Amino acid sequence: MGMTIAIDGPAASGKGTVSRAIAAHYGFAHLDTGLLYRAVGRRLLDGQDPVEAARTLDAGELDEDALRTPDVAQAASKVAAIPEVRQALLDFQRAFAARAGGAVLDGRDIGTVICPEAEVKLFVTASAEIRAKRRHAELVDKGMDIDFATVLADVEQRDARDMTRADAPLRPADDAVLIDTSVMSIAQAVAAARAEVDARSGG
Ligand code: CDP
Repeated sequence: MGMTIAIDGPAASGKGTVSRAIAAHYGFAHLDTGLLYRAVGRRLLDGQDPVEAARTLDAGELDEDALRTPDVAQAASKVAAIPEVRQALLDFQRAFAARAGGAVLDGRDIGTVICPEAEVKLFVTASAEIRAKRRHAELVDKGMDIDFATVLADVEQRDARDMTRADAPLRPADDAVLIDTSVMSIAQAVAAARAEVDARSGG
């Protein structure tokens, strides 16, 4: 079975956790497309031209830990509004989605732009307060000294930028299934996602 699963949603909605669990359960490859934009954002912070950065991006730069900081997230959402940056990252994402063994891609525009033909489309969301609370806990866990208000402001600013940009704005595809994880445990969110995949694949 070589299905494509598109999982979109706003910042810190839990889509990464759900995507990893789904990929592991079905034995599919997983691509966190946010890391591509974060890597370009990282290069912007280092003084490089973001379009050039996107065109020359190397898989070796997708080091999760180094890219999971609020300043890189902000830079990512800025470069993500540049059409040439999105265009430069398109082929890599489509090739990944087409791999034979099945693929899970998570991001903002997977169901709408990157993989409009995906067999399963999920839109994972939660209230901004709850998302910021989870992201804050994650960052503190990693040893970062950051207050909740700063994290909430980052999440709200990025959501606004991601939803209002002209190119590939964050929104659920018309045929996406909404999973609101505000009052769900991780296990419940993963179970809801699995139920959708099973329903679409006749499993
Ligand atoms: O983990 P979190 O949800 O906080 O962010 P992310 O998924 O790593 O994405 C970082 C930023 O990249 C987002 O705020 C978006 O601006 C951008 N992005 C995008 O535009 N399109 C995607 N498919 C994935 C991320």
